[in-house]
Amino acid sequence: MEKFLIIILITFLKFAIFIASEQPPYVPTDNIILNCGAPSDSYGADGRIWTGDKSSKSEAYEADSQGGGSVDRVPYMTGRVSSSEFKYTFPVTPGQKFLRLYFYSASYKQFDPSKAFFSVKAGSFTLLKNFSALLVADSLGFRSFFREFCLNLKENEVLDVIFTPSPSASNDTYAFINGIEIVSMPTNLYYTPPELLGGAPFIGQSSGFFVNNYTALEMVYRLNVGGNTISPKYDTGMFRLWSDDYEYMSTQSYFTVNTTVPIDYTIVPRYTAPEEVYRTARTMGPNRTYNERHNLTWRLLVDSDFRYMVRLHFCEIQDVIDSPGKRQFEVFLNSQTAEAIFDVIMWTDHAKVPYYKDYVLLILKNGNQNKQHITIDLHPRVAIYYDVILNGIEVFKMNNSDGNLAGPNPEHLIAPPPPHIESSNSAGGKSKMKRRVLFAANGCAVSLLALVSLLACIVLWRHKRRQHCGSYAGTNWFYRWRNPNEEKSTKSSLLPKELCRHFSQDEIKAATNNFDDDLVIGKGGFGKVYKGFLDEGEKVVAIKRLNPESRQGVVEFSTEIEMLSQLRHLHLVPLIGYCNENREMILVYDYMSNGTLCDHLYTATAYDPLTWKQRLEICKGAAMGLNYLHTEVKHTVIHRDVKTSNILLDDKFTAKVSDFGLSKMDSKVGMLETGVKGTWGYLDPEYARGHALNEKSDVYSFGVVLFEVLCARKALDKKLPEGQVNLARWARKCISDGTLYQVIDPHLIGKIASECFKVFVEIAENCIEELGVNRPSMNDVMEKLGFAIDLQEAADLEKEKTNPGREHSYPDIVFPIARDDDLDYESEVDPIISGMSNPIIDSSTSSYLFSSTNNTESIGN
Ligand SMILES: *[C@@H]1O[C@H](CO)[C@@H](O)[C@H](O)[C@H]1NC(C)=O
Ligand SMILES: *[C@@H]1O[C@H](CO)[C@@H](O)[C@H](O)[C@H]1NC(C)=O
Ligand SMILES: *[C@@H]1O[C@H](CO)[C@@H](O)[C@H](O)[C@H]1NC(C)=O
Ligand SMILES: *[C@@H]1O[C@H](CO)[C@@H](O)[C@H](O)[C@H]1NC(C)=O
Ligand SMILES: *[C@@H]1O[C@H](CO)[C@@H](O)[C@H](O)[C@H]1NC(C)=O
Ligand SMILES: *[C@@H]1O[C@H](CO)[C@@H](O)[C@H](O)[C@H]1NC(C)=O
Ligand SMILES: *[C@@H]1O[C@H](CO)[C@@H](O)[C@H](O)[C@H]1NC(C)=O
Repeated sequence: MEKFLIIILITFLKFAIFIASEQPPYVPTDNIILNCGAPSDSYGADGRIWTGDKSSKSEAYEADSQGGGSVDRVPYMTGRVSSSEFKYTFPVTPGQKFLRLYFYSASYKQFDPSKAFFSVKAGSFTLLKNFSALLVADSLGFRSFFREFCLNLKENEVLDVIFTPSPSASNDTYAFINGIEIVSMPTNLYYTPPELLGGAPFIGQSSGFFVNNYTALEMVYRLNVGGNTISPKYDTGMFRLWSDDYEYMSTQSYFTVNTTVPIDYTIVPRYTAPEEVYRTARTMGPNRTYNERHNLTWRLLVDSDFRYMVRLHFCEIQDVIDSPGKRQFEVFLNSQTAEAIFDVIMWTDHAKVPYYKDYVLLILKNGNQNKQHITIDLHPRVAIYYDVILNGIEVFKMNNSDGNLAGPNPEHLIAPPPPHIESSNSAGGKSKMKRRVLFAANGCAVSLLALVSLLACIVLWRHKRRQHCGSYAGTNWFYRWRNPNEEKSTKSSLLPKELCRHFSQDEIKAATNNFDDDLVIGKGGFGKVYKGFLDEGEKVVAIKRLNPESRQGVVEFSTEIEMLSQLRHLHLVPLIGYCNENREMILVYDYMSNGTLCDHLYTATAYDPLTWKQRLEICKGAAMGLNYLHTEVKHTVIHRDVKTSNILLDDKFTAKVSDFGLSKMDSKVGMLETGVKGTWGYLDPEYARGHALNEKSDVYSFGVVLFEVLCARKALDKKLPEGQVNLARWARKCISDGTLYQVIDPHLIGKIASECFKVFVEIAENCIEELGVNRPSMNDVMEKLGFAIDLQEAADLEKEKTNPGREHSYPDIVFPIARDDDLDYESEVDPIISGMSNPIIDSSTSSYLFSSTNNTESIGN
């Protein structure tokens, strides 16, 4: 077989035409557009200059335009045609690219369109196999069309695109191509960014999926939902076609939203999709009765036996939807839940801010159906507006493990020879047959196979990674995929989305021995906490089971999932997953082997007392966790229930703040407040009196924690004499009397350097200031605790020098030595008691919770 090698070098400026006009949001580094078979350069309908490939030797023909109708002249009217293999080689820059192949099914001189059967390969990927443009054109109803692929090119890799006529007995098949386009894309626009912890949700699977650089994608749908077709010219610089979605809607009734609002790209980059995509959308409309009984549904036909990445684009463009909680809906992909609660503004913070989310779906052959539907169903949830919204859909097919992306040809519409078509699979026939049998066997085999192939991918990928370590030097995202909890940064701008595992009730039952009481490790307002064993007992977890009649309800549960899954920090307890089957609401966390801080101070006796250094480090860690919640996340998160039983310790005694069941988004965004919550003894007196909740309320509670750590006693101890019951009040009294050192934990006597003690007490005292404005920020607290640690270490070092190898002892401390700003706290009315309406003693938690009935209005405005 003779081979033609056509090397195209493009040196001139492609963008001359665009320079004059407005710069698009993205300017591709590679932008090669080739008009195959054309003798010279020419303008396309899109205004771009298409390069002719006249320099090559292979056969070039003009299409016989007879019956061609309204086909664009460029690039369709000329083609490169050959009955032997031919290859294009493109020297391109490394990185992720679009490769678009343009076809026009027509006769090219003596070549009959029904004899064009060929394969197209790019690098190691098979993009098309025994492809018939005629059969595709017949099924589409258009003679001309293009196929779009995404590929990643490594350093020094050239892009070879090889066209091979299918083998046939009569030797009369041929291959042809009318146009080839190569356009760079922004890195990780369609590949999973490594900072997306856990990858994209893999529907029906417990772990996520990374669309990695070794995968080739084929765009199968790109829809501007509710809008008109957007031609490549009006894309954001990548020349993508956005089609309208009318023919894929399978709902009788829908509303089209068409606005002219300005789109505010603050979360996703401006190049993600044109403004037109986000300015138009579909909703169900205002008929609540109708909406209750229906879904808003799209059905998209795809090839079986491939994985697909489904990207849904959202943007709240209707004026009435301006804050979280106003519109919430469920998202189903092929009848499986992809999102139990989707609230666009919960993710975007503001209206008119676009956002997208990717899901991965495995479409298996059902019987001998070569094609199946991807069904996207949206259903409203009870919220202020009972409706759904969707702005755009993109669907990409991923190559199989053998690098194949090609599906079978569509069946011939005019003269269907079904047995003939069936046998057309003979090329890859053997494995396909085998697969069909396996898939038909049972569900178990299917998931096993999926697992095996996933594992195979990983192994293969790892193997490849080793081979290519040069080009991957310095990146460790595979490692990160294995350890999603290790990564603490969620500040990465691109979609820090959750991937928390969804557990079935059966899995939870198995993990807890059917909620065996012997495994209970804690009880709270929320319900019981069990120790559980996952993955054949390999992984120990804490399983929090919401008891249905508990004060905290569904709202808190979903809040906790939503929030925790987004929040990742070394000093926060990592959420692994959840289960909400059969009205059960269960959260699964990493197990913290050293229990709660409270256990180490006074509750349990099994532990050795913590050293002063350990206590300082724990306090600083918890402060860092809280500071992260206050300042480093998109919505300020107020913990609302900071206490020693909510600070957990892992095997290395690292502090981890837990229990966000009471947390709410910053009240400024108008979340519904249901009443004062918190634990008596830790509660900010200002908040208790009806002031708005703010970060300083957590600071107050943290001050109480600091005194608890120092004195090793409960925040509230009814057994103690009056005046000592409330730790915060008592500590202030002791400080002003200069007797604080006499009431510290006896285990700490002689262990604290006086400089350190003074700083520590100062921090704690400032935290429990009566007025929030006088309290420090959590950031100050964190830094000053660091300073206290430094002081203690310096003093220890000094002792070590003068007295090596001995236990150090420090003299007793009087603090403060003299004070003139004394207040008589005894005479004050207890602000906490006066602010409270009806205390409820919660015997299960040994903490005192209370709820207030009439202050809903006064809070959160
Ligand atoms: C994939 O390749 C691109 C360049 O081609 C690179 O920038 C990116 O970091 C790679 N992604 C991963 C996860 O290695
Ligand atoms: C097809 O081509 C092969 C080799 O190119 C040749 O041996 C064979 O005779 C040809 N068959 C026909 C029917 O032309
Ligand atoms: C949306 O409105 C604009 C003008 O306001 C119009 O040109 C466009 O066709 C409309 N789109 C749809 C899908 O109706
Ligand atoms: C709302 O939808 C219901 C059910 O489809 C229908 O019976 C009713 O007439 C509709 N109401 C309005 C005002 O269109
Ligand atoms: C909406 O779609 C989901 C998933 O396919 C299905 O379970 C549910 O019954 C549908 N709801 C209605 C009202 O059609
Ligand atoms: C695509 O093919 C490559 C090998 O060519 C393989 O490494 C990769 O895992 C495949 N992708 C998928 C999703 O199977
Ligand atoms: C290619 O497809 C055609 C029609 O679908 C079929 O007749 C032919 O046998 C196939 N060839 C190969 C090599 O699969």
